[in-house]
Amino acid sequence: MNVLGIDASHNTAALVKDGRLVASAEEERFDRCKHSRNPPVHAIRFCLEYAGLAAADVDYVAVGMDEVDHYSGLGLILSKVLLEGYPPGLLRKRFSVLRHHLFTDPARLRTHSPLSSAYWGKKVDAATDGTGLSAEIRVIPHHVAHGAWASLPTGWKNASCLVADGAGDWESTTAYAYHDQSIEFLRKETYANSLGFLYFNATDYLGFGFLQEGKTMGLAAYGDPQDVPGAVLDQIVRVPGELSPWYTVDSRILTDYYYGRGYLSHFTRLFGAPKRPPGLEATTPPYPVAAAAVQRSLEKALLHTVKKVVESTGEKKLCLGGGVAMNCSANGKIWASGLVDELAVQVAPMDSGTAAGAALRLAQQLGEKPLVEPDRSDWGPEFSDAEIEKALEAAGLRFERCPGSSIAGKAADLVAKGKIVGWFQGRMELGARALGHRSILANPGIKGMNDRVNRVKHRELWRPFAPSIAAERLGEYVQKPCPSPFMLIAFHANPNGKRELPTVIHVDGTTRVQTVDKRLEPLYYRLLREVEGHTSHPAVLNTSFNDAGEPIVCSPRDAIRSYFGMGLDALAIGNYLALNPEPGAKR
Ligand SMILES: [Fe+2]
Repeated sequence: MNVLGIDASHNTAALVKDGRLVASAEEERFDRCKHSRNPPVHAIRFCLEYAGLAAADVDYVAVGMDEVDHYSGLGLILSKVLLEGYPPGLLRKRFSVLRHHLFTDPARLRTHSPLSSAYWGKKVDAATDGTGLSAEIRVIPHHVAHGAWASLPTGWKNASCLVADGAGDWESTTAYAYHDQSIEFLRKETYANSLGFLYFNATDYLGFGFLQEGKTMGLAAYGDPQDVPGAVLDQIVRVPGELSPWYTVDSRILTDYYYGRGYLSHFTRLFGAPKRPPGLEATTPPYPVAAAAVQRSLEKALLHTVKKVVESTGEKKLCLGGGVAMNCSANGKIWASGLVDELAVQVAPMDSGTAAGAALRLAQQLGEKPLVEPDRSDWGPEFSDAEIEKALEAAGLRFERCPGSSIAGKAADLVAKGKIVGWFQGRMELGARALGHRSILANPGIKGMNDRVNRVKHRELWRPFAPSIAAERLGEYVQKPCPSPFMLIAFHANPNGKRELPTVIHVDGTTRVQTVDKRLEPLYYRLLREVEGHTSHPAVLNTSFNDAGEPIVCSPRDAIRSYFGMGLDALAIGNYLALNPEPGAKR
């Protein structure tokens, strides 16, 4: 049976064939619009082509959002406002979202109605050039899709599962007990009490753009929340909350994003400055302290919630999912706390993962055994040597052929010498992190390399970088190591880590490591060991292969364009190496 999964929020497609995940990719990689909101037409085409299927072969389409629930949510909010004293702004928020859709994207509004099946049917049909999609479209509740993706790839028998995001359908935080590939609902918080919206709104106050929460997390390391009185912190999040046994986000922070932005005046009162204006450096006081206060509040709420969920299930293995699980600093706090014995955060825990999660869950409901190869991130397209060579020749690049796996040694030699290398290998990763398939690599042992890479990528100089480290060697560089294949857990560096890898240790002494497994990533692992042969560390600085404002590169053509645009020193693409004769030059 073939199930096509669709993330109805951020527009990703996935294909599950006979219960097994085969492919998944985000639309932005194909249409080259960062955070694309376009229907995942190209992503669907890719998934079908990769699986060798025609449209007529798709048996079901699973959409990871129960849109009808948006309207039932209206009644629930109304009862919250009238009976439980929630602020009327929450009701206004729901109506203003409706208004936003009416005036800016009326077609999208149909996804918020019983017509959503027809809407997605048309989009899927368009993606397949109207070649006869007859599949039945089924809806999987958003947090169920998140929970399925958070838990099924672990291979665990029993675990606690916690999903947290801005809002999916009506929920913002949901706990499940995971047993034998099924998730059992325990309890939820509505989006009237959303940790994701807390962070989303704080990110707007700090002057960062849409979906730039990672910058807020990075900035938080520059502030000390001790500079904020406890009474002020209590006006962000309280635990245990008056309205919730988990946490209570101050309702003044959760006013509408589309209409009024009342939270900006609340943050202004708390931190004594208005929203950061364009042009003012983010590290200017009080913005780092504000970021730190919000980060600490998020961690306080999550730690308390994890404690309660683990108490409830009795399971100290934890699967984390939802956009909030992208916060590797908070994940690191959960891991360091000792509340859990094992922690799993899958690649793309945000909405992109719900395409695969919805498809896997539906396949399971239809009687199939869901199967995901664990710790894999590369679910996207790949390109043959012939395709790569053709693209290199079309761009007029001079290149060297590197047979076998010798490209790893060639690239490692350059990295060790201080060169910045574009690394394009195998299938593209799913999600926001480059994990050794579409990466830019540098030597983390050379002081000042972070500034150089930030300039090449046109990023703010205060933003941190992360390393890839041979998995079995992590304990040499951090405290309390554990597997982190998707770069989603921040560890405290030990003295050796700070000395050996200075450019990938953030100002608060943490490092957001990707552990690289020899069996799963043989070529990338070989590169790390080759780097060690020249230096003393099996590690590289690994950042995503894209210039500022662009999605991560997908095709050889994208990679060559970005290689020129950023003026990288070299491009190691498949079995080919191109050297820039004029590093830093733009074409
Ligand atoms: Fe979500």
